[in-house]
Amino acid sequence: MSKIKIAVLISGGGSNLQAIIDGINEGYIPAEIDIVISNKEDVYGLKRAEKHNIDTKVMTKAIYGSIEKRNKALLELLKKRNIDLVVLAGYLAILPTEIIKEYENKIINIHPSLIPSFAGDGFYGRRVHESAFNRGVKISGATVHFVNEITDGGPIILQKTVDIDFDDDVETIAKKVLEIEHKILPLAVKLFAQGRLEVINNRVKIHEK
Ligand code: GRF
Repeated sequence: MSKIKIAVLISGGGSNLQAIIDGINEGYIPAEIDIVISNKEDVYGLKRAEKHNIDTKVMTKAIYGSIEKRNKALLELLKKRNIDLVVLAGYLAILPTEIIKEYENKIINIHPSLIPSFAGDGFYGRRVHESAFNRGVKISGATVHFVNEITDGGPIILQKTVDIDFDDDVETIAKKVLEIEHKILPLAVKLFAQGRLEVINNRVKIHEK
């Protein structure tokens, strides 16, 4: 069986990208990363890809002149490279509807909370953990979900919790959650690569091997 081709979209340090790279190199994920695309110049995630001889491409609004032209070029690139799965690994730009429709249930995102808590427009990165800290939650965690037109609203694939102690602060919450992200995102990619994910009425069934 030929390996599925993945495009990973990033905007920053790429620690989730690294978790996928490691999963592939360890033989845990039966897939190949065809390209890493960043909407920001000079982010460390690009260096991570280059270290593993993975193609990279920076696609910023400035390079293409407008967000619309950038997104058109992104869709063309994904189709030209016959991408099977798009992984949003800390990608902070909004995907346009035409890409979401073209890749229905073939785009996954990692969100640093237990959706629907602390999710949706405006909830990304540190803001998520600040909200969790301020609310005084006793557990938080991470969610991997398929991407649809609703921000963080797509079918949930995996979730995993972390305990929040009174002595935790925003930084320690973020660190605890990031460790979980690095576990469930590679697992979700593996399950997709094995063809074990089925969306039924907006819920995800995980088939045994
Ligand atoms: C992670 O916290 C992830 O939950 C969020 O963006 C951050 C990306 O981190 N989507 P990294 O670039 O993968 O290290």
